[in-house]
Formats: sequence, C-alpha cells, structure tokens
Amino acid sequence: MISQTIMKQQFRTVFFNKPTRVGKEFEYMQQALRNDHISGDGQFSKRTHALLEQMLGVPKVLLTTSCTHALEMSALLLDLKDGDEVIVPSFTFVSTINAFVLRGARPVFADIRPDTLNLDESRLEALITPRTRAIVVVHYAGVSCEMDVIMEIANRYGIPVVEDNAHGLFGKYKGKYLGTFGMLATQSFHETKNFTAGEGGALLINDPKYIDQAEILREKGTNRSRFFRGQVDKYTWINVGSSYLPSDMLAAFLLAQLEEREQIQSSRRRIWETYYKELSDWAEEKHVQLPFVPAHCEQPYHMFYLLFPDLERRQAAIAHLQEHGIHAVFHYLPLHLSPMGEKYGGKLGDCKVTENISDRLLRLPFFTNMTEVEQGYVMEALRKLDGP
Ligand SMILES: Cc1ncc(COP(=O)(O)O)c(C=O)c1O
Repeated sequence: MISQTIMKQQFRTVFFNKPTRVGKEFEYMQQALRNDHISGDGQFSKRTHALLEQMLGVPKVLLTTSCTHALEMSALLLDLKDGDEVIVPSFTFVSTINAFVLRGARPVFADIRPDTLNLDESRLEALITPRTRAIVVVHYAGVSCEMDVIMEIANRYGIPVVEDNAHGLFGKYKGKYLGTFGMLATQSFHETKNFTAGEGGALLINDPKYIDQAEILREKGTNRSRFFRGQVDKYTWINVGSSYLPSDMLAAFLLAQLEEREQIQSSRRRIWETYYKELSDWAEEKHVQLPFVPAHCEQPYHMFYLLFPDLERRQAAIAHLQEHGIHAVFHYLPLHLSPMGEKYGGKLGDCKVTENISDRLLRLPFFTNMTEVEQGYVMEALRKLDGP
C-alpha cells in the first residue's frame, strides 16, 4: 500500500531531463578548493583538456563557458566580417548562427535531410557564393552529417567547416570521432547534454594554426596562457579577446563525468534501445517515425525523438503526456522563419523539410539516471494516446 502511494507520487512528474551525478563530482570540486585554484585553467581544466585531446586525437581542446562561446570564438578565429556569408542548417539552435551574426555575417539557411535531420549535403554546393566564408554543420542528436561529401565540397572551394557538435561528443562517422573533421568544432556541457558542468563547452582545434590565437582570444586578448607556461616573463594585451574560460570548479565537475563515460554511455544506450525496441510496433501502427541512424554512424545516445505524421498529432501527444505529468518537448523552430531569420529574407517554403520536421518532432524524456519504471510509464502513456 505504502509503496503504491510512493509510486503514484513519484509519477506526478517525469521530467524531460534531470542532471546526473555519477561519481566523484563533489570530491573533485572539494579538491579544486583545496588546491586554492578555482579560477580557469587549473589542474582540473588541464586534466579535462588532456583527456579529450587524447581520446579524440585532437591537437588542442580548450574548455569554454558554453558551446555558444566556443562558436563565438570560432567566428572570431575565422575573422568573419560584415557581409560575409555563413551556411548553416535552419534546423538548429540559435547559437549555431548567432555567434557568426554577432561579427556581421549573413546567414544562408540550408535545408536538412528528412532521415537524419542533418544539413542536406546534396543541396550544399548550390548555396555557395564568392562571399561564403564558413559552413557550419550540426550533427543532430549526435548522428553524423555526411562528412565525406561536405568536406570534399568545402575543400574544393577552400571554405572552412565548423562542426557544432553540441550533441555529439564521442559519436563517430565511419569510425572517426565527430568534432575532428572541421577546422574547428564545438561541444556543449549544458545540463541537458550527456556530460555536463551545468553550463559549459569546449572548442576543438583541428588546425594547429589557430591554437595561439585561440588561447589569446579566450584569455581577454592577452598572452596569459603562455605566461603561465613560463614561455614569457610577463603577460600583456596582444589582440582582441574576451573571457571564455570556465572556473576550475566546473572543470572538476565535468572531469568526474567524463571519467565515467562508459557508465554514462551504456546507461543512455540501454534507455535509447529500450525506447526504440518497445515503441516499434506502436510507432508503425500510428505512422510515427523513429530516429534513423545510418550504419556508418555511431551515435552517442544523446536524445530520443519521435516524428508524428503532422502538427496536430504532435501537439495532441504533448498535451496527452502533459496530462500524465510527463514533460516531452518539441525542438527547434526553423531559424529562417524566426523574426531574426525573416530580417535576412527567410520565408515560408525556403527550407521545406525543416518546416515539416519542426512541426512533427517530439523529444521524449531522456536522461542518464532515468529509471526503468519512469521509462515504462512514459511508454505506457504513449500507448494510451487516442487517434490514428
Ligand atoms: C546544436 C546546438 N548548438 C549549440 C547549443 C548551445 O549550447 P550551450 O548551451 O552550451 O551554449 C545548443 C544547445 O543545446 C545546441 O543544441
């Protein structure tokens, strides 16, 4: 009787996301305090940089305060100016392009593929003009874009590629880690991501020619990083910059999570596969599409989404789940149709797949510590959904 009451109370709400603690987060944060170094680039930041560089095989990783800031650093490093054009999928988070617009660049919105929901590589070349200065790709849900084709086109035109890999840490394309294809790549460690510091991000620098400049940019335009390494005897203002480095307390939290990556990824994989398997028959019956992962892509199990046949049925599902205390959410609204996108000439019909997917997509609750009972409750509620 008591346990039934607890079960009912527990199920008043299934959150969309819950931040997860997996091991040594507090211990490492206390250690950072004991080290008397809680500003940026202390011992924990260095250990995190080393872990990511070694695992991914990237020449340089720099922690940042967010993925947004890593994208802003990318725009500064590529020296984007007024009137430059940046190709970006319309189906993405605002930061993917806002970082470049801040420098005066003009967004050129690309449509996405209906299967992986990534930038449609077959339409990329047609968007390139003499003013194109960057191509920013997003690996949606951590499932890779078609990087062979994208890199071939970008290299042929000499245009730098930036990978917004906010969702895709440890995902792979043809056996190679995401974030290692473009000249630059960005990660997010926001609370909703597989590995988190609450807020946080990283810049991955694949072309070593950007390393010195990136360090200066991140440290208020100074050569303080070189000073701390003993390479110069005082530090001074070298170039334009800002403050993009996180506190070592946050790096300590993040490192504890990254060290437990196998545990985190295997638990997310189990949850993802359970949704996929258990919902297959129901989805077929309801004409709901489940996520598609091409055989040559390894996904990092970042999210689980459903594609309903139309907007009405997606909205009905959100309302129905809400009635059961379940928070399921839609995702990106097409950027070309946002008030800001319209200022750049975006109009209905420009990116038809994006418009269609944006109406139909629903993200289910998905987080590392989601229990079997919580997940079972979400699936049971979905099966009770009325309608065809
Ligand atoms: C594709 C993409 N890029 C960038 C961001 C921004 O990340 P952050 O919150 O770390 O700035 C997000 C946020 O979720 C995102 O989905």
